[in-house]
Amino acid sequence: GSTITPTNKDLFKVNSPNVVYTDNEIRSKYTYRTTLVNETADGKFEATPKETIYDFKVDRKVPKTGMMLVGWGGNNGTTVTAGIIANRRGLVWETREGPRAANYYGSVVMGSTVKLGTNAKTAKDVNIPFHDILPMVHPNDLVIGGWDISGLNLAQAMDRAAVLEPTLKDQVKKEMASMVPLPSIYYPDFIAANQEDRADNLIKGSKACMEHVEQIRKDIRDFKTTNNLDKVIVQWTANTERFADLIPGVNDTAENLMKAIADGHEEVAPSTVFAVACILEGVPFINGSPQNTFVPGAIELAEKHNAFIGGDDFKSGQTKMKSALVDFLISAGIKLTSIASYNHLGNNDGKNLSSQRQFRSKEISKSNVVDDMVEANSVLYKKGEHPDHTVVIKYMPAVGDNKRALDEYYAEIFMGGHQTISIFNVCEDSLLASPLIIDLVVVAEMMTRIQWKAHSSDGATTKDFKNFHSVLSILSFMLKAPLTPPGTPVINALAKQRSALVNIFKACVGLEPENDMTLEHKLF
Ligand code: NAI
Repeated sequence: GSTITPTNKDLFKVNSPNVVYTDNEIRSKYTYRTTLVNETADGKFEATPKETIYDFKVDRKVPKTGMMLVGWGGNNGTTVTAGIIANRRGLVWETREGPRAANYYGSVVMGSTVKLGTNAKTAKDVNIPFHDILPMVHPNDLVIGGWDISGLNLAQAMDRAAVLEPTLKDQVKKEMASMVPLPSIYYPDFIAANQEDRADNLIKGSKACMEHVEQIRKDIRDFKTTNNLDKVIVQWTANTERFADLIPGVNDTAENLMKAIADGHEEVAPSTVFAVACILEGVPFINGSPQNTFVPGAIELAEKHNAFIGGDDFKSGQTKMKSALVDFLISAGIKLTSIASYNHLGNNDGKNLSSQRQFRSKEISKSNVVDDMVEANSVLYKKGEHPDHTVVIKYMPAVGDNKRALDEYYAEIFMGGHQTISIFNVCEDSLLASPLIIDLVVVAEMMTRIQWKAHSSDGATTKDFKNFHSVLSILSFMLKAPLTPPGTPVINALAKQRSALVNIFKACVGLEPENDMTLEHKLF
Protein backbone atom coordinates (compact mmCIF):
# COMPACT_ATOMS: atom_id res chain seq x y z
CA GLY A 1 0.00 0.00 0.00
CA SER A 2 1.40 3.39 -0.88
CA THR A 3 -0.92 6.04 0.45
CA ILE A 4 0.98 9.28 0.66
CA THR A 5 1.10 10.66 4.19
CA PRO A 6 -1.18 13.66 4.51
CA THR A 7 0.84 16.80 5.04
CA ASN A 8 -0.01 20.45 5.10
CA LYS A 9 -0.09 20.37 1.30
CA ASP A 10 -0.31 23.89 -0.06
CA LEU A 11 -0.20 25.39 3.42
CA PHE A 12 0.52 28.78 1.85
CA LYS A 13 0.34 30.42 -1.50
CA VAL A 14 2.47 33.33 -2.62
CA ASN A 15 0.49 36.26 -3.85
CA SER A 16 2.80 37.92 -6.37
CA PRO A 17 2.97 38.53 -10.11
CA ASN A 18 6.38 36.80 -9.97
CA VAL A 19 4.97 33.49 -8.81
CA VAL A 20 2.76 31.26 -10.92
CA TYR A 21 1.23 27.96 -9.83
CA THR A 22 0.14 25.36 -12.34
CA ASP A 23 -1.06 21.83 -11.64
CA ASN A 24 2.43 20.47 -12.10
CA GLU A 25 4.74 23.37 -11.32
CA ILE A 26 5.52 26.37 -9.23
CA ARG A 27 7.33 29.00 -11.28
CA SER A 28 8.98 32.00 -9.75
CA LYS A 29 10.92 34.99 -10.97
CA TYR A 30 13.41 35.91 -8.32
CA THR A 31 15.84 38.83 -8.04
CA TYR A 32 19.09 37.68 -6.48
CA ARG A 33 20.97 40.60 -4.99
CA THR A 34 24.69 40.42 -4.30
CA THR A 35 27.58 42.84 -4.02
CA LEU A 36 30.60 42.82 -6.28
CA VAL A 37 33.78 44.19 -4.75
CA ASN A 38 36.80 45.63 -6.53
CA GLU A 39 40.03 46.27 -4.70
CA THR A 40 41.41 49.67 -5.59
CA ALA A 41 45.10 50.46 -6.01
CA ASP A 42 45.30 52.06 -2.56
CA GLY A 43 44.12 48.84 -0.87
CA LYS A 44 40.55 50.04 -0.48
CA PHE A 45 37.35 48.55 -1.80
CA GLU A 46 34.64 49.58 -4.16
CA ALA A 47 31.38 47.72 -3.60
CA THR A 48 28.80 47.54 -6.37
CA PRO A 49 25.34 46.08 -5.84
CA LYS A 50 24.44 43.53 -8.48
CA GLU A 51 21.14 41.96 -9.46
CA THR A 52 20.53 38.77 -11.37
CA ILE A 53 17.04 37.64 -12.20
CA TYR A 54 16.42 33.92 -12.04
CA ASP A 55 13.47 31.84 -13.08
CA PHE A 56 12.93 28.87 -10.81
CA LYS A 57 10.72 25.96 -11.66
CA VAL A 58 9.63 23.44 -9.05
CA ASP A 59 8.03 20.15 -9.98
CA ARG A 60 5.06 19.87 -7.58
CA LYS A 61 4.46 16.16 -7.96
CA VAL A 62 5.92 14.39 -4.93
CA PRO A 63 7.45 11.17 -6.24
CA LYS A 64 7.29 7.78 -4.60
CA THR A 65 10.83 7.60 -3.30
CA GLY A 66 13.14 4.84 -2.17
CA MET A 67 16.07 5.27 0.20
CA MET A 68 18.82 2.69 -0.19
CA LEU A 69 21.48 2.64 2.49
CA VAL A 70 24.94 1.15 2.12
CA GLY A 71 25.64 -0.22 5.60
CA TRP A 72 21.92 -0.77 6.21
CA GLY A 73 22.62 -3.28 9.01
CA GLY A 74 24.72 -0.83 11.03
CA ASN A 75 23.71 1.33 13.98
CA ASN A 76 22.54 4.21 11.81
CA GLY A 77 20.89 2.00 9.20
CA THR A 78 18.82 0.03 11.71
CA THR A 79 17.99 3.07 13.84
CA VAL A 80 16.74 5.21 10.98
CA THR A 81 14.71 2.28 9.64
CA ALA A 82 13.07 1.55 12.99
CA GLY A 83 12.50 5.26 13.49
CA ILE A 84 10.69 5.69 10.19
CA ILE A 85 8.55 2.59 10.78
CA ALA A 86 7.67 3.87 14.25
CA ASN A 87 6.68 7.26 12.86
CA ARG A 88 4.71 5.74 10.01
CA ARG A 89 2.72 3.64 12.48
CA GLY A 90 2.50 6.36 15.14
CA LEU A 91 4.00 4.07 17.75
CA VAL A 92 4.10 4.74 21.48
CA TRP A 93 6.28 2.67 23.84
CA GLU A 94 6.92 2.46 27.55
CA THR A 95 10.21 3.59 29.07
CA ARG A 96 11.22 3.97 32.70
CA GLU A 97 10.41 7.66 32.27
CA GLY A 98 6.91 6.97 30.97
CA PRO A 99 5.52 6.52 27.47
CA ARG A 100 7.45 7.91 24.52
CA ALA A 101 6.04 8.51 21.04
CA ALA A 102 7.71 8.46 17.65
CA ASN A 103 8.98 11.83 16.45
CA TYR A 104 11.42 13.40 14.03
CA TYR A 105 13.39 15.51 16.51
CA GLY A 106 16.82 16.41 15.17
CA SER A 107 15.63 16.62 11.58
CA VAL A 108 15.86 20.17 10.27
CA VAL A 109 13.26 19.29 7.64
CA MET A 110 10.77 17.66 10.02
CA GLY A 111 11.55 19.37 13.31
CA SER A 112 12.24 23.01 12.54
CA THR A 113 10.24 25.96 11.31
CA VAL A 114 10.88 28.83 8.94
CA LYS A 115 9.54 32.36 9.12
CA LEU A 116 7.07 32.85 6.30
CA GLY A 117 6.45 36.52 7.11
CA THR A 118 4.66 38.89 9.41
CA ASN A 119 0.98 38.58 10.20
CA ALA A 120 -0.81 41.41 8.39
CA LYS A 121 -3.12 42.07 11.36
CA THR A 122 -1.10 41.33 14.49
CA ALA A 123 2.39 42.12 13.13
CA LYS A 124 3.63 38.92 14.74
CA ASP A 125 5.92 36.44 12.99
CA VAL A 126 4.24 33.63 11.10
CA ASN A 127 6.37 30.47 11.15
CA ILE A 128 5.66 27.33 9.20
CA PRO A 129 7.22 23.86 9.31
CA PHE A 130 10.34 23.68 7.16
CA HIS A 131 8.79 20.69 5.42
CA ASP A 132 6.04 22.87 4.01
CA ILE A 133 8.15 25.48 2.18
CA LEU A 134 8.21 23.26 -0.91
CA PRO A 135 6.38 20.05 -1.85
CA MET A 136 8.84 17.67 -0.21
CA VAL A 137 8.73 13.92 0.26
CA HIS A 138 7.49 12.90 3.71
CA PRO A 139 9.95 10.53 5.41
CA ASN A 140 7.08 8.23 6.44
CA ASP A 141 6.62 7.47 2.75
CA LEU A 142 10.21 6.43 2.05
CA VAL A 143 10.60 2.82 0.98
CA ILE A 144 13.78 1.58 2.63
CA GLY A 145 16.34 -0.92 1.41
CA GLY A 146 20.06 -1.36 1.03
CA TRP A 147 23.22 -3.38 1.28
CA ASP A 148 25.45 -4.67 4.07
CA ILE A 149 28.45 -6.95 4.23
CA SER A 150 26.80 -8.45 7.31
CA GLY A 151 23.84 -10.66 6.47
CA LEU A 152 21.83 -10.25 9.68
CA ASN A 153 18.25 -9.22 9.08
CA LEU A 154 17.32 -5.76 10.32
CA ALA A 155 15.68 -7.02 13.53
CA GLN A 156 18.83 -8.91 14.52
CA ALA A 157 21.00 -6.01 13.42
CA MET A 158 18.89 -3.63 15.52
CA ASP A 159 19.55 -5.84 18.55
CA ARG A 160 23.26 -5.84 17.79
CA ALA A 161 23.21 -2.03 17.58
CA ALA A 162 21.82 -1.75 21.12
CA VAL A 163 20.39 1.70 20.57
CA LEU A 164 16.60 1.50 20.94
CA GLU A 165 14.39 0.55 23.91
CA PRO A 166 13.21 -3.07 24.01
CA THR A 167 9.57 -1.94 24.19
CA LEU A 168 10.02 -0.11 20.91
CA LYS A 169 12.01 -2.91 19.30
CA ASP A 170 9.25 -5.41 20.14
CA GLN A 171 6.78 -3.43 18.08
CA VAL A 172 8.91 -3.16 14.94
CA LYS A 173 10.70 -6.50 15.17
CA LYS A 174 8.37 -8.45 12.91
CA GLU A 175 8.52 -5.95 10.09
CA MET A 176 12.26 -5.54 10.41
CA ALA A 177 12.93 -9.27 10.47
CA SER A 178 11.60 -9.38 6.92
CA MET A 179 14.17 -6.80 5.82
CA VAL A 180 17.46 -8.34 4.78
CA PRO A 181 20.37 -6.36 3.35
CA LEU A 182 21.56 -7.16 -0.16
CA PRO A 183 25.08 -8.61 -0.37
CA SER A 184 27.73 -5.92 -0.75
CA ILE A 185 31.25 -5.44 -1.98
CA TYR A 186 34.06 -5.83 0.54
CA TYR A 187 37.65 -4.78 -0.14
CA PRO A 188 39.23 -5.59 3.23
CA ASP A 189 42.09 -3.13 2.91
CA PHE A 190 39.70 -0.15 3.06
CA ILE A 191 38.09 -0.75 6.46
CA ALA A 192 39.58 -1.91 9.76
CA ALA A 193 40.71 -5.52 10.00
CA ASN A 194 38.49 -5.83 13.11
CA GLN A 195 35.41 -5.75 10.85
CA GLU A 196 36.24 -8.99 9.12
CA ASP A 197 34.18 -11.25 11.36
CA ARG A 198 30.90 -9.61 10.31
CA ALA A 199 31.63 -9.77 6.58
CA ASP A 200 29.46 -12.74 5.58
CA ASN A 201 27.15 -11.26 2.95
CA LEU A 202 29.39 -10.54 0.02
CA ILE A 203 29.37 -10.10 -3.71
CA LYS A 204 32.28 -12.11 -5.11
CA GLY A 205 35.58 -10.33 -5.70
CA SER A 206 37.84 -8.27 -3.43
CA LYS A 207 38.76 -5.34 -5.63
CA ALA A 208 36.95 -2.93 -7.93
CA CYS A 209 35.61 -4.24 -11.22
CA MET A 210 32.85 -3.41 -13.69
CA GLU A 211 30.82 -6.42 -12.56
CA HIS A 212 30.51 -4.78 -9.14
CA VAL A 213 29.33 -1.53 -10.70
CA GLU A 214 26.81 -3.44 -12.83
CA GLN A 215 25.53 -5.51 -9.89
CA ILE A 216 24.88 -2.40 -7.82
CA ARG A 217 23.11 -0.73 -10.74
CA LYS A 218 20.97 -3.82 -11.13
CA ASP A 219 20.18 -3.85 -7.39
CA ILE A 220 18.96 -0.26 -7.66
CA ARG A 221 16.84 -0.96 -10.73
CA ASP A 222 15.32 -4.08 -9.16
CA PHE A 223 14.50 -2.21 -5.96
CA LYS A 224 12.84 0.50 -8.02
CA THR A 225 10.75 -1.94 -10.02
CA THR A 226 9.78 -4.20 -7.13
CA ASN A 227 8.57 -1.28 -5.06
CA ASN A 228 7.11 0.65 -7.94
CA LEU A 229 9.23 3.72 -7.21
CA ASP A 230 9.63 6.93 -9.18
CA LYS A 231 12.99 7.71 -7.61
CA VAL A 232 15.77 6.26 -5.50
CA ILE A 233 18.37 8.04 -3.37
CA VAL A 234 21.42 6.09 -2.18
CA GLN A 235 23.38 6.98 0.93
CA TRP A 236 26.65 5.61 2.32
CA THR A 237 26.30 4.98 6.06
CA ALA A 238 28.72 2.06 6.05
CA ASN A 239 32.03 1.94 7.86
CA THR A 240 34.53 4.72 7.49
CA GLU A 241 37.11 3.71 4.93
CA ARG A 242 40.72 4.80 4.78
CA PHE A 243 41.50 7.55 2.29
CA ALA A 244 42.26 6.36 -1.22
CA ASP A 245 45.59 7.59 -2.58
CA LEU A 246 45.13 10.13 -5.33
CA ILE A 247 47.10 8.74 -8.23
CA PRO A 248 47.43 10.49 -11.59
CA GLY A 249 46.06 8.22 -14.28
CA VAL A 250 43.92 6.27 -11.78
CA ASN A 251 41.36 8.47 -10.10
CA ASP A 252 42.13 11.95 -11.40
CA THR A 253 39.65 12.03 -14.29
CA ALA A 254 36.33 10.37 -15.06
CA GLU A 255 37.87 8.42 -17.89
CA ASN A 256 40.82 7.20 -15.83
CA LEU A 257 38.57 6.20 -12.96
CA MET A 258 36.37 4.10 -15.23
CA LYS A 259 39.49 2.50 -16.65
CA ALA A 260 40.90 1.86 -13.16
CA ILE A 261 37.67 0.09 -12.20
CA ALA A 262 37.70 -1.99 -15.36
CA ASP A 263 41.36 -2.88 -14.70
CA GLY A 264 40.68 -3.82 -11.09
CA HIS A 265 42.99 -1.18 -9.63
CA GLU A 266 43.53 -1.67 -5.88
CA GLU A 267 43.15 2.01 -5.02
CA VAL A 268 39.43 2.25 -5.87
CA ALA A 269 37.36 2.12 -2.68
CA PRO A 270 34.01 0.32 -2.33
CA SER A 271 32.32 3.65 -1.62
CA THR A 272 33.66 5.02 -4.91
CA VAL A 273 32.34 1.97 -6.76
CA PHE A 274 28.90 2.67 -5.22
CA ALA A 275 29.17 6.33 -6.20
CA VAL A 276 30.08 5.44 -9.78
CA ALA A 277 27.21 2.96 -10.04
CA CYS A 278 24.75 5.60 -8.80
CA ILE A 279 26.11 8.29 -11.11
CA LEU A 280 25.76 5.98 -14.11
CA GLU A 281 22.29 5.04 -12.95
CA GLY A 282 21.33 8.73 -12.51
CA VAL A 283 20.55 8.20 -8.84
CA PRO A 284 21.71 10.78 -6.26
CA PHE A 285 24.47 9.42 -4.01
CA ILE A 286 25.33 10.91 -0.62
CA ASN A 287 28.38 9.98 1.42
CA GLY A 288 27.79 10.04 5.19
CA SER A 289 31.31 8.98 6.13
CA PRO A 290 34.55 10.97 6.05
CA GLN A 291 36.65 9.15 3.45
CA ASN A 292 37.44 10.66 0.03
CA THR A 293 34.85 8.66 -1.90
CA PHE A 294 34.56 11.55 -4.31
CA VAL A 295 37.99 11.45 -5.87
CA PRO A 296 38.34 14.04 -8.66
CA GLY A 297 37.43 11.44 -11.27
CA ALA A 298 34.16 10.66 -9.49
CA ILE A 299 33.21 14.33 -9.33
CA GLU A 300 33.98 14.76 -13.02
CA LEU A 301 31.92 11.68 -13.82
CA ALA A 302 28.95 13.10 -11.89
CA GLU A 303 29.23 16.40 -13.77
CA LYS A 304 29.37 14.59 -17.10
CA HIS A 305 26.26 12.59 -16.31
CA ASN A 306 24.39 15.46 -14.65
CA ALA A 307 24.02 13.23 -11.61
CA PHE A 308 23.74 14.54 -8.08
CA ILE A 309 26.30 13.77 -5.40
CA GLY A 310 26.72 15.07 -1.85
CA GLY A 311 29.05 14.55 1.11
CA ASP A 312 30.99 14.08 3.28
CA ASP A 313 30.48 12.79 6.83
CA PHE A 314 27.32 13.40 8.87
CA LYS A 315 27.62 16.48 11.10
CA SER A 316 25.78 15.21 14.13
CA GLY A 317 27.32 15.99 17.50
CA GLN A 318 30.67 17.50 18.39
CA THR A 319 31.30 19.10 15.03
CA LYS A 320 27.80 20.52 14.82
CA MET A 321 28.36 22.23 18.18
CA LYS A 322 31.76 23.37 16.99
CA SER A 323 30.48 24.95 13.79
CA ALA A 324 27.89 26.87 15.80
CA LEU A 325 30.06 27.82 18.76
CA VAL A 326 33.13 28.91 16.80
CA ASP A 327 30.94 30.97 14.51
CA PHE A 328 29.48 32.66 17.58
CA LEU A 329 32.86 33.30 19.25
CA ILE A 330 34.64 34.68 16.21
CA SER A 331 31.69 36.73 15.01
CA ALA A 332 31.43 38.17 18.52
CA GLY A 333 35.00 39.37 18.10
CA ILE A 334 36.49 36.89 20.57
CA LYS A 335 39.82 35.42 19.54
CA LEU A 336 39.59 31.65 19.75
CA THR A 337 43.12 30.30 20.19
CA SER A 338 42.66 26.56 20.67
CA ILE A 339 40.17 23.74 20.45
CA ALA A 340 40.89 20.38 22.07
CA SER A 341 38.35 17.71 21.17
CA TYR A 342 38.23 14.27 22.75
CA ASN A 343 35.74 11.54 21.94
CA HIS A 344 35.17 8.11 23.25
CA LEU A 345 32.56 5.74 21.97
CA GLY A 346 31.86 2.04 22.15
CA ASN A 347 29.84 1.20 19.06
CA ASN A 348 31.05 -0.52 15.92
CA ASP A 349 31.94 2.83 14.37
CA GLY A 350 34.32 3.37 17.31
CA LYS A 351 35.76 -0.08 16.86
CA ASN A 352 36.44 0.60 13.20
CA LEU A 353 37.95 4.01 14.03
CA SER A 354 40.33 2.42 16.53
CA SER A 355 42.35 1.48 13.49
CA GLN A 356 44.82 4.22 12.54
CA ARG A 357 44.08 4.65 8.84
CA GLN A 358 40.32 4.87 9.36
CA PHE A 359 40.81 7.26 12.30
CA ARG A 360 42.90 9.44 9.99
CA SER A 361 39.89 9.89 7.65
CA LYS A 362 37.81 11.08 10.60
CA GLU A 363 40.59 13.30 11.90
CA ILE A 364 40.88 15.09 8.56
CA SER A 365 37.12 15.51 8.30
CA LYS A 366 36.87 16.91 11.83
CA SER A 367 39.85 19.23 11.54
CA ASN A 368 39.02 21.74 8.83
CA VAL A 369 35.66 22.76 10.18
CA VAL A 370 36.58 26.20 11.48
CA ASP A 371 38.75 27.36 8.60
CA ASP A 372 36.17 29.53 6.86
CA MET A 373 35.24 31.34 10.07
CA VAL A 374 38.87 32.04 10.98
CA GLU A 375 39.77 33.17 7.49
CA ALA A 376 36.82 35.56 7.36
CA ASN A 377 38.07 37.53 10.36
CA SER A 378 41.15 39.51 9.39
CA VAL A 379 40.80 41.64 12.51
CA LEU A 380 41.52 38.76 14.90
CA TYR A 381 43.75 36.56 12.72
CA LYS A 382 46.70 37.44 10.53
CA LYS A 383 46.83 35.79 7.12
CA GLY A 384 47.54 32.09 7.61
CA GLU A 385 47.08 32.26 11.40
CA HIS A 386 44.95 29.49 12.93
CA PRO A 387 43.76 28.40 16.34
CA ASP A 388 45.44 25.19 17.54
CA HIS A 389 43.07 22.30 16.95
CA THR A 390 43.40 18.68 17.96
CA VAL A 391 41.01 15.75 17.70
CA VAL A 392 41.29 12.50 19.65
CA ILE A 393 38.98 9.47 19.33
CA LYS A 394 39.16 6.41 21.58
CA TYR A 395 37.23 3.14 21.47
CA MET A 396 35.59 2.38 24.82
CA PRO A 397 33.22 -0.58 24.37
CA ALA A 398 31.33 -0.06 27.63
CA VAL A 399 29.69 3.22 26.58
CA GLY A 400 28.23 1.67 23.41
CA ASP A 401 26.42 4.11 21.16
CA ASN A 402 26.40 6.73 23.94
CA LYS A 403 29.24 8.74 22.54
CA ARG A 404 31.07 11.15 24.80
CA ALA A 405 32.55 14.29 23.32
CA LEU A 406 34.66 16.57 25.50
CA ASP A 407 35.70 19.89 24.06
CA GLU A 408 37.74 22.70 25.47
CA TYR A 409 37.60 26.03 23.69
CA TYR A 410 40.26 28.49 24.80
CA ALA A 411 39.99 32.09 23.73
CA GLU A 412 41.68 35.43 24.21
CA ILE A 413 39.39 38.20 25.38
CA PHE A 414 39.78 41.91 26.10
CA MET A 415 43.18 43.13 27.28
CA GLY A 416 44.96 39.80 27.46
CA GLY A 417 42.30 37.96 29.42
CA HIS A 418 41.17 34.41 28.72
CA GLN A 419 37.93 32.56 28.34
CA THR A 420 37.78 28.79 28.66
CA ILE A 421 34.63 27.00 27.60
CA SER A 422 34.40 23.34 28.45
CA ILE A 423 31.70 21.17 26.94
CA PHE A 424 30.79 17.62 27.83
CA ASN A 425 28.37 16.29 25.26
CA VAL A 426 26.78 12.86 25.71
CA CYS A 427 24.28 11.41 23.28
CA GLU A 428 23.32 8.30 21.38
CA ASP A 429 25.26 8.78 18.21
CA SER A 430 22.80 6.99 15.97
CA LEU A 431 19.86 8.98 17.28
CA LEU A 432 21.63 12.12 16.12
CA ALA A 433 22.70 10.71 12.77
CA SER A 434 19.37 9.11 11.78
CA PRO A 435 17.43 12.36 11.32
CA LEU A 436 20.32 13.68 9.23
CA ILE A 437 20.03 10.67 6.95
CA ILE A 438 16.39 11.62 6.45
CA ASP A 439 17.18 15.30 5.85
CA LEU A 440 19.84 14.43 3.29
CA VAL A 441 17.44 12.21 1.37
CA VAL A 442 14.52 14.64 1.47
CA VAL A 443 16.59 17.68 0.46
CA ALA A 444 18.54 15.78 -2.22
CA GLU A 445 15.29 14.48 -3.68
CA MET A 446 13.82 18.00 -3.65
CA MET A 447 16.87 19.28 -5.56
CA THR A 448 16.12 16.83 -8.38
CA ARG A 449 12.84 18.72 -8.92
CA ILE A 450 14.17 22.29 -8.97
CA GLN A 451 15.45 23.96 -12.11
CA TRP A 452 16.70 27.43 -12.86
CA LYS A 453 17.33 29.83 -15.71
CA ALA A 454 19.10 33.21 -15.55
CA HIS A 455 18.15 36.54 -17.12
CA SER A 456 20.92 39.00 -16.98
CA SER A 457 22.57 41.75 -18.92
CA ASP A 458 26.15 40.68 -18.21
CA GLY A 459 26.34 37.58 -20.39
CA ALA A 460 25.26 35.15 -17.70
CA THR A 461 21.88 34.58 -19.32
CA THR A 462 20.97 30.95 -19.89
CA LYS A 463 18.48 29.86 -22.51
CA ASP A 464 17.13 26.64 -21.08
CA PHE A 465 16.18 25.48 -17.63
CA LYS A 466 19.00 23.59 -15.92
CA ASN A 467 19.56 21.62 -12.75
CA PHE A 468 21.70 22.85 -9.91
CA HIS A 469 25.36 21.78 -10.06
CA SER A 470 26.00 18.06 -9.61
CA VAL A 471 27.70 18.65 -6.28
CA LEU A 472 24.87 19.50 -3.89
CA SER A 473 26.58 21.90 -1.48
CA ILE A 474 23.10 22.86 -0.26
CA LEU A 475 23.37 19.72 1.91
CA SER A 476 26.24 21.27 3.91
CA PHE A 477 24.18 21.82 7.07
CA MET A 478 24.08 18.05 7.59
CA LEU A 479 27.73 17.38 6.72
CA LYS A 480 31.07 17.81 8.49
CA ALA A 481 33.27 18.24 5.44
CA PRO A 482 30.93 19.66 2.83
CA LEU A 483 31.72 18.83 -0.74
CA THR A 484 31.29 21.85 -3.00
CA PRO A 485 31.55 22.31 -6.77
CA PRO A 486 35.27 22.31 -7.70
CA GLY A 487 36.87 25.68 -7.04
CA THR A 488 34.03 27.04 -4.90
CA PRO A 489 34.36 27.92 -1.21
CA VAL A 490 33.36 25.57 1.61
CA ILE A 491 31.02 27.01 4.23
CA ASN A 492 31.16 25.32 7.62
CA ALA A 493 29.40 27.92 9.78
CA LEU A 494 26.16 26.28 10.84
CA ALA A 495 23.95 29.38 10.66
CA LYS A 496 25.13 30.23 7.15
CA GLN A 497 24.52 26.68 6.02
CA ARG A 498 20.98 26.82 7.31
CA SER A 499 20.35 30.22 5.70
CA ALA A 500 21.50 28.90 2.34
CA LEU A 501 19.14 25.96 2.59
CA VAL A 502 16.14 27.97 3.76
CA ASN A 503 16.67 30.92 1.45
CA ILE A 504 17.22 28.89 -1.71
CA PHE A 505 13.99 27.04 -1.00
CA LYS A 506 12.21 30.33 -0.31
CA ALA A 507 13.55 31.80 -3.56
CA CYS A 508 11.96 28.90 -5.41
CA VAL A 509 8.57 30.24 -4.34
CA GLY A 510 9.57 33.84 -4.97
CA LEU A 511 10.10 34.86 -1.36
CA GLU A 512 12.88 37.11 -0.09
CA PRO A 513 15.60 35.70 2.17
CA GLU A 514 14.99 36.25 5.84
CA ASN A 515 17.05 39.36 6.57
CA ASP A 516 16.18 39.70 10.27
CA MET A 517 16.03 43.49 9.99
CA THR A 518 12.41 43.71 11.27
CA LEU A 519 12.27 47.39 10.38
CA GLU A 520 8.50 47.21 10.85
CA HIS A 521 9.17 47.01 14.58
CA LYS A 522 11.93 49.57 14.71
CA LEU A 523 10.69 52.60 12.79
CA PHE A 524 7.77 54.42 14.33
P1 NAI B 1 28.22 0.78 12.05
O1 NAI B 1 29.60 0.22 12.07
O2 NAI B 1 27.27 0.38 13.09
O3 NAI B 1 27.56 0.47 10.64
C1 NAI B 1 28.26 0.36 9.46
C2 NAI B 1 27.73 -0.82 8.67
O4 NAI B 1 28.37 -0.84 7.42
C3 NAI B 1 28.02 -2.17 9.32
O5 NAI B 1 26.81 -2.89 9.47
C4 NAI B 1 28.96 -2.85 8.34
O6 NAI B 1 28.74 -4.24 8.29
C5 NAI B 1 28.59 -2.18 7.04
N1 NAI B 1 29.61 -2.14 5.98
C6 NAI B 1 30.94 -1.96 6.04
N2 NAI B 1 31.50 -1.96 4.82
C7 NAI B 1 30.48 -2.14 3.93
C8 NAI B 1 30.40 -2.21 2.53
N3 NAI B 1 31.49 -2.13 1.77
N4 NAI B 1 29.19 -2.39 1.97
C9 NAI B 1 28.06 -2.50 2.71
N5 NAI B 1 28.08 -2.42 4.06
C10 NAI B 1 29.27 -2.25 4.67
O7 NAI B 1 28.44 2.36 12.04
P2 NAI B 1 27.35 3.53 12.26
O8 NAI B 1 27.42 3.97 13.67
O9 NAI B 1 26.06 3.13 11.69
O10 NAI B 1 28.01 4.68 11.39
C11 NAI B 1 28.06 4.54 9.98
C12 NAI B 1 29.01 5.53 9.36
O11 NAI B 1 28.52 6.84 9.57
C13 NAI B 1 30.43 5.47 9.92
O12 NAI B 1 31.36 5.60 8.88
C14 NAI B 1 30.49 6.68 10.78
O13 NAI B 1 31.80 7.21 10.89
C15 NAI B 1 29.60 7.63 10.02
N6 NAI B 1 29.11 8.69 10.87
C16 NAI B 1 28.30 8.41 11.94
C17 NAI B 1 27.88 9.43 12.76
C18 NAI B 1 26.97 9.14 13.90
O14 NAI B 1 26.58 8.02 14.12
N7 NAI B 1 26.58 10.12 14.67
C19 NAI B 1 28.30 10.82 12.55
C20 NAI B 1 29.16 10.97 11.41
C21 NAI B 1 29.52 9.94 10.60
